[in-house]
Amino acid sequence: MALLPILTAPDPRLKKKSLPVEAVDDGVRQLMDDMLETMYDAPGIGLAAPQVGVLKRVIVLDIDREEAKTGPLFMANPEIIEASDEDASYEEGCLSVPEHYSDVVRPAKVTVRYLDRDGKSQELACEGLLSTCVQHEIDHLDGILFIDHISALKRNIILRKLLKARKEKERDEVEGKPAASAKDPEHAL
Ligand code: NI
Repeated sequence: MALLPILTAPDPRLKKKSLPVEAVDDGVRQLMDDMLETMYDAPGIGLAAPQVGVLKRVIVLDIDREEAKTGPLFMANPEIIEASDEDASYEEGCLSVPEHYSDVVRPAKVTVRYLDRDGKSQELACEGLLSTCVQHEIDHLDGILFIDHISALKRNIILRKLLKARKEKERDEVEGKPAASAKDPEHAL
């Protein structure tokens, strides 16, 4: 397994639509395993392939690492096949939008159809944080970030701050200063 670099906004690769995988072969399984390791390391609870620069419809999730009964989920070609009329709001963050959070309203419950790590077709009914996370990750496959769900004004403020933070980080790296990171894993999707 290997840690993969996570792209941060603004990056044109995060705005692209990803392509379905033809089959879950060893290459896709390797990608899933590397993505899971990268997500745990970040740390986050969800990660989509375009966030590591791979434009394939693959996501990994683990909303509660301590809870052995759920365990990590690997999804190729995930599709929402049913969504509730009822909405829910959750304060979302994203490993590609580090240290910024915003309330996003989405359908409260969804059913997702996907291919699992063995290439078997599965359907899963999701609610709560899992529902938010699945919808957030599938958005990534269509080039959509959670900041695309908020006002343009708020989005532009966040994007400007990210650019500024990136410049400061580059300057600190030149000067050899250690990188500071304080992310809340509960919200990093
Ligand atoms: Ni994200």
